[in-house]
Parts: sequence; C-alpha cells; structure tokens
Amino acid sequence: MALLRAGGTTAIEWGQPSNFVNFSTPALRPAQKGIADHGGSVQPADVEHLYFNGRHYDQRYKKFVEDIPFWMRMAKQYGDSILELACGTGRISIPMAKEGYRVTGIDISDSMLAEAKRKLCEARICLELIKADVRDFHLRRKFNLAIFPANTICHLLTFQDLEACFRCVKRHLEPSGKFVIDVFNPRFDILLRNRSQRYPHSEYSDPDGKGTIVITEASDYDSASQINTITLFYNIPGMSIEVVEELRMRIYFPQELDELLKYNGFRVEVKLGDYDGKPFRSDAPRQLFVCQLIR
Ligand SMILES: C[S@@+](CC[C@H](N)C(=O)[O-])C[C@H]1O[C@@H](n2cnc3c(N)ncnc32)[C@H](O)[C@@H]1O
Repeated sequence: MALLRAGGTTAIEWGQPSNFVNFSTPALRPAQKGIADHGGSVQPADVEHLYFNGRHYDQRYKKFVEDIPFWMRMAKQYGDSILELACGTGRISIPMAKEGYRVTGIDISDSMLAEAKRKLCEARICLELIKADVRDFHLRRKFNLAIFPANTICHLLTFQDLEACFRCVKRHLEPSGKFVIDVFNPRFDILLRNRSQRYPHSEYSDPDGKGTIVITEASDYDSASQINTITLFYNIPGMSIEVVEELRMRIYFPQELDELLKYNGFRVEVKLGDYDGKPFRSDAPRQLFVCQLIR
C-alpha cells in the first residue's frame, strides 16, 4: 500500500511575493494502490499514485477543455483577483493568468504543483501557487472570485471536510465576492453499475513515451455514506501486470448541495446545468453554482 504524502507546515510559491501558508490537516484520504496480476489479486506497489501525478494528469485530460470558456467568462464577470481551490497542474489557472488575471492556485499535491510550475515557467507568466489543503488554508487576504472546478468537491468525503473548506472560502472572499463550484449532476445509471464489471475510463499517451495507457474502472457506490469507491486499472505498455488504484469520491446531490451552501453562509445566485449557461434541470450534466456570501 502506498500512501500519498501529507501533513506538516508547507509553503511553496512561484511568481509572486511571499506568503506563509499553514496546513496541518492530513491531505487526501489515502488511496489504496497496488499491482494486480490478471488473476485479480492485489499486491503492494512502490510506484507513485498515477491519478495525482501531474504529468499523467495533463496527458489524460489533454482533450478536456470544454469548461475553460466558462471559467474565462467567470473571470471576466467577477475577477480579478482569483483563487482556484485545488488548481492541480494549472489547467484553468494558467489560461486565466495568460489573459492577465491575478490568480492564486492552491493544491495539496506536490506532483500536480510541480507540473503547474514547470508550465508557467515555460510560458513566462505570473501565477502564485501555494501548497495547501482546501480544508485548512490561511492566505491572509481576500479575493473577488474563488473557484472550485472539475468535481474536486467530491474529494471532500465528509460534512466536516466540506464545512471546513467552506469556512476557509468565506474567510478569503471579499464581501461582494463570488464562489463558483462545478460538480457533475449524479446519475443513478452510473452509480448503480454492476460493481464486478469493468468499464472504459480513459486512454492517453504515456508522458515518458512508452505508448498508450488504457484505464478501465470498476465502482462500488455506498448509498449510506454517499461515497463511490472507484478502482482504476492502468494497463501500461511494457508491463505484464496492471497498476491498480482506489479513489473515493463523495457524491453530492442537487438539493443537498443547495442546502449545504445555504446553511454554511452562501446564497446561490445562479445554478447552471452546463458550461454553455443552460439553467440547471433534472437531466443537466453539471451543477454550476455561482454563490455570494450571506451578509
Ligand atoms: C480533478 S483535479 C482538478 C485540478 C484542476 N482544478 C483542474 O481543473 O484541472 C483534483 C485536484 O484536487 C487536489 N486535491 C484533492 N484534495 C485536496 C485537498 N484536500 N486540498 C487541496 N487539494 C486537493 C488534487 O491534488 C488534484 O490536483
């Protein structure tokens, strides 16, 4: 079993004056990981967790750009200055910074931040990156816009996690600032899939040029905790065995999130159902919240 590194008090910054960030909460929930032979047994592995490996992440989501125009509209409407929670490799923050917005990105993963740093140095742009946990950060300043893109809220597995994150966001928003969240609208046909069956997840080019990595997934949704445990099977060229990783995601249902936001001090001004601005409805693919602090 390999665990993601976590803990300590850490600040990593690039591109802007110094700031101290304190994070003391354990980071991601440990993801189980191992290598499976094709007979299905799982053995310990000493490779890094691929799901949060920045180089792999960028290859895997290279073609996922459909949300970028939405975030640019948010920046234009409500920026500048912008805080991205869980900025990862800067997939969204970097295009915003290229447009001239002042952006700060926080993330817990060294590997994701390292890739973001490499890209912003290459592009010679200014973007502040800070290693911090979205549940416990203290930047000692306020932003006009805080964004929480790409289903990352699902990594907050408990109400305590979610409420701790919302408390941090509140401390970092200007009184008229906006908090925008993007998460999928849960689908029962996906959640209730046969747990012993594998489904296609994604395919991407190995960043080290070894060929195409093919990922399949199996999932096991627990309706009591609303946590979906997803097992990812990586078929990597040149390896006769598969790398297996387990990822847990909290499923947030529409009415639940509306209420959680309200009872945690946010007024939902708009709730959209897709990046093109359609209103939220039963069959909408996404839940996009534009919120403001309740005064
Ligand atoms: C799906 S990626 C999204 C990255 C980026 N926002 C994007 O849209 O490409 C999820 C990110 O959440 C980060 N993350 C997960 N839990 C976190 C936590 N508690 N605090 C900070 N970052 C976290 C991971 O390291 C990862 O970079």
